[in-house]
Amino acid sequence: MSKDIVHIFDTTLRDGEQVPGCKLDKKQKLVIARRLDELGVDIIEAGFPRSSPGDFKSVMEIAKVVKNATVCGLTRAVKKDIEVAAEALKYAKTPRIHTGIGTSDSHIQHKFNSNREAIFERAIGAVKYAKSFVEDVEFYAEDAGRTDNEFLARVCEAVIKAGATVLNIPDTTGYCLPEEYGAKMKYLKENVTGIDKAILSCHCHNDLGLATANSIAGVINGARQIECTVNGIGERAGNTSLEEVVMILRQHPYLGLDTNINSRLLYDTSLMVSEKMGMVVQPNKAIVGANAFAHSSGIHQDGVIKNRETYEIMDPADVGVNESSILLTARSGRAALAYRAKKVGYELTKVQLDRVYEEFLKYADRKKEVVDKDIHEIVEKSNIKIESVS
Ligand code: KIV
Ligand code: ZN
Repeated sequence: MSKDIVHIFDTTLRDGEQVPGCKLDKKQKLVIARRLDELGVDIIEAGFPRSSPGDFKSVMEIAKVVKNATVCGLTRAVKKDIEVAAEALKYAKTPRIHTGIGTSDSHIQHKFNSNREAIFERAIGAVKYAKSFVEDVEFYAEDAGRTDNEFLARVCEAVIKAGATVLNIPDTTGYCLPEEYGAKMKYLKENVTGIDKAILSCHCHNDLGLATANSIAGVINGARQIECTVNGIGERAGNTSLEEVVMILRQHPYLGLDTNINSRLLYDTSLMVSEKMGMVVQPNKAIVGANAFAHSSGIHQDGVIKNRETYEIMDPADVGVNESSILLTARSGRAALAYRAKKVGYELTKVQLDRVYEEFLKYADRKKEVVDKDIHEIVEKSNIKIESVS
């Protein structure tokens, strides 16, 4: 079955870099940008050029080195922002300006002290102005998650007429439920004249832990771009995690959706971003966490040793992890111990295994995890005659 491609818009270097304490220098940003290009992301949001001279320079250098992806710069609906972004992007093979404004009543009243009509006009003006510099203009309706659907549809229709090629529908505060966010996309698909001329984009924050679920609900309901970050980093609780949405679409082929990502580079990319940003990945993080393919309970280990698919829904090699790991803890059984003992050179008979297992439990109760070095000691202490397999 031929699949529809969902574009991956990576904002690790813009929304991701907004994490306190995770600022990157230009050199680090260039290394990450090159890797994102290699990974196969369709769009790299390289920064917010008007925000600082440093960000301007980084966007410009990234625009020069990126070979395949579109390079994008963020702006507010402010003329000077748009001019500066256009300048920073001038060397990009395929530049995109990402401009927009808050559309929820909360943003209109409290941020802008304005009204819907004035915001509507500013949105159109910003898109038209950006369009005078580049062909590819993405419009974001900030806080779209809490924006009245009718008004949102009116804004979307107007910015498409003004030349927007992509409509970003951010759940800026991470408030929506997946059903609600999916319904919003469906509403726009069905109620915006000219919607087929633009791509709908999901941009979800993770305040309630729903960013990934909301993005998937968005694409099921017609969006064809997901904005995300490596390891899900970003403001507050973060953004949609790139590796999660890529693997969800790949592991559920009946959805008829896929991305251009080379998933075998996911783990390595996660390590690179974590190391450069000094931001540790939680061990239980889906896809790229240290425990994502580690098994420690005896029942699970026995299953995985017999057949990996009993407790794994994807092949670790597909995300660049060498192999599943069988950890030895006090919850492990004989199957796991025999498996790990064989890996370090001992082929145990059933009787020998019983004896070694007794000794193993003493160790395991004392230690959080039994490692290879311990296995040698345990075998020695078990006082049995062992044939080494190596
Ligand atoms: O979360 C958000 O609304 C954003 C926009 C600036 C795109 O990051
Ligand atoms: Zn955001």
